[in-house]
Amino acid sequence: MMAIAIMTSGGDCAGMNPAIKQFVDYCFNRKVQPYLIYDGLKGLIDGDIRPATYEDVAGIMHEGGTKIRSSRSKRFFEYKYREQAYKNLQKHNIDKIVILGGDGSFRALNQFHKDFGVNFVGIPATIDNDIFGTEYCLGVDTALNVIRQATDAVRDTSSSFKRACVIETMGRDCGYLALVSAIACGAEVCIIPELDYDLNIIGERLKKEIANGRKYVVCVVAEGCHDNKCTSTQQLVDWLQNDIGIETRATILGHVQRGGNPTVFDRLLASQFATFAVDRLLSGEKGGSVIVYNKSEFDFVSIEYVNSQKYKIKEELLDLARRLVN
Ligand code: F6P
Repeated sequence: MMAIAIMTSGGDCAGMNPAIKQFVDYCFNRKVQPYLIYDGLKGLIDGDIRPATYEDVAGIMHEGGTKIRSSRSKRFFEYKYREQAYKNLQKHNIDKIVILGGDGSFRALNQFHKDFGVNFVGIPATIDNDIFGTEYCLGVDTALNVIRQATDAVRDTSSSFKRACVIETMGRDCGYLALVSAIACGAEVCIIPELDYDLNIIGERLKKEIANGRKYVVCVVAEGCHDNKCTSTQQLVDWLQNDIGIETRATILGHVQRGGNPTVFDRLLASQFATFAVDRLLSGEKGGSVIVYNKSEFDFVSIEYVNSQKYKIKEELLDLARRLVN
């Protein structure tokens, strides 16, 4: 019987479990033996590879995180560990892998393919939505809903106290989560690495609005601002308190954004990504590719393409937020 394995790598996200479930169910449907690689690249090296059963994936559709766990492994950069990983796969006659993760994980498997010919499909899965070539990554919609819920809650208390709040979102260098959340939550200020801004201009606007009756201010900032020469969360808090004169509190959302019950959108996307990935691997296509989702359509692109450019937020979205930075 033909065998395909699935693994999750790097930062986990909601939607991984639905993808794993769909993968296993669909493999059985296609008369293929599905395997689960536990603990990401670490488990691949250490040989934690187990044949999947229906029971392994029953009742996981609604759970965040990844049942087969994840890791960030530096050992995989070394040939001797990749060779060990290959030997582990050989024991089960596995030469095809579906990997959920980000571009770093795809690069790792691309090298693995070059070394040993293991074919793979990458499913973009990261809350950061920072993979070039796809409009959406798995997990983004759930993360946005978690941020939206938290921001709405913080707004309640900010308005009660006539305070400003600074909400910091994850995303590494990418401001997508902060940008979309700022728009969706009606923030007054949005600071992300991708948008030029001038605090003096924003400050003048806020002062006028406060003089005209604004009682509280919501400001969303991307975590990437710390390392990208723009204003960090603490600097924004200090500026709001000292220059604008409004009492301010900061909320760093942190890892709460990575968890939670996957949204319907993420469950559906997960199911489609997983099914198309299996079909691709069974079609006899050799090599490695990444499945992408653009304008409601799925396609496959090469790892080289995904790595050829840095992900850019669409201009239309940036335009929506431009009034929040001046
Ligand atoms: O890539 C996903 C992500 O959650 C980023 O947004 C964040 O910067 C990073 O992972 C956090 O990594 P860790 O969970 O290893 O602290």
